[in-house]
Amino acid sequence: MTSSRLPGFYKLPPDERLGKIVEACGDAEIKEMIKSGLSLEQADKMVENVIGLFQVPLGIATNFIIDGREVLVPMATEEPSVIAAASNGARMARDGGGFFTSSTGPVMRAQIQAVDLKDPHGARCRILEHASEITRIANEVDPMLVRLGGGAVGLEVHVIDSRAGPMVVTHLLVDCRDAMGANAVNTMAEAVAPEIERLTGGRVHLRIISNLADMRLARARAVFKADAIGGAETVSAVFKAAALAEVDPYRAATHNKGIMNGITAVVLATGNDTRAVEAGAHAYAARSGQYSSLSRYEIDSNGDLVGTIELPVAVGLVGGATRVHPVARAAVRILGVRSADELSRVMAAVGLAQNFAALRALATEGIQRGHMSLHARNIALQAGARGEMVEIIAERMASERRINIERASELLRELGGSH
Ligand code: MEV
Repeated sequence: MTSSRLPGFYKLPPDERLGKIVEACGDAEIKEMIKSGLSLEQADKMVENVIGLFQVPLGIATNFIIDGREVLVPMATEEPSVIAAASNGARMARDGGGFFTSSTGPVMRAQIQAVDLKDPHGARCRILEHASEITRIANEVDPMLVRLGGGAVGLEVHVIDSRAGPMVVTHLLVDCRDAMGANAVNTMAEAVAPEIERLTGGRVHLRIISNLADMRLARARAVFKADAIGGAETVSAVFKAAALAEVDPYRAATHNKGIMNGITAVVLATGNDTRAVEAGAHAYAARSGQYSSLSRYEIDSNGDLVGTIELPVAVGLVGGATRVHPVARAAVRILGVRSADELSRVMAAVGLAQNFAALRALATEGIQRGHMSLHARNIALQAGARGEMVEIIAERMASERRINIERASELLRELGGSH
């Protein structure tokens, strides 16, 4: 793709926007996938007791440059302003070259809990003495993952004193490659459990993945040039907003919620597990014992703002809804990512763009003005406005600062748009 800058994109009707995306990606099949959507038949095979489909808007965030590549970002979200803000944040990062990313690679942990132990520290050492045997057993159950260059790569063993007595918790470390990994990791955890019981002399209870995926971290960095974001005052205001989030959990929760507005929308659009990524992000934010922000902002020697983010992002490209859901498949193609690792790094960049845009708005004019015009459109729709009447009524309500259903209905009657 030549550029993710699509000036005037937001003004087009949805069909024409889709046409532009197909054109920008040079991939005609995307259109069909998005238009067809998930069928009831497919849905019925995905979860239980299906009675229908729940639809969420899918939009495209523009303006992203990630590691030198122009990227269009599909986002599935019900929240107004999120996609516009991500695009806005990405635009303001362009002068600094966009987003630069890195990652740890896709290693997940399974936890295997052994209880009723006589000698927990002895048990821990016996497990570690047999680490290669345990990883061999784990890898036997997923030869495909091993062939793809992944599989169990090692162990950590923790002795934990709990209210229910001492426990030995083995962490089986698994390189999941392009899979999110929950299935592979859980199967491996179950497979090694008998050997852990034999070595510890205890009983194994839990055998499950940990969503605190601290060995599957994605990072992004961007320089927001002072000139591009409103000058030194804005730099200082964002810096101060971020400083509060570092030390105050009340602010950090909202700050991180804003980050996840962006990340979760891409996780959902690509058919990945939103709860796994959310759980990992918040647990990682609390890893020091005090819940803190996932991003940091500094002012560099040029007076520009340097934003960075680091968080666990456990997502996959194979398996689950990512492969089944036609819209998720289209989203992956629009992103043009070739590995789950690359997808996780794109998500980190989106989180940073989203966070920066929110902080900038909050630290300057506040977010309500932007929010209100979209909110007004929603209210106009709820009151029954259709077509161009939606915009007309929304604008009137926004300018009057009276945005509610009653006023929208009144205007609809007044302007002759009721039906
Ligand atoms: C709203 O969904 C998200 C924000 O509250 C994030 C933030 O406060 O940083 C605007």
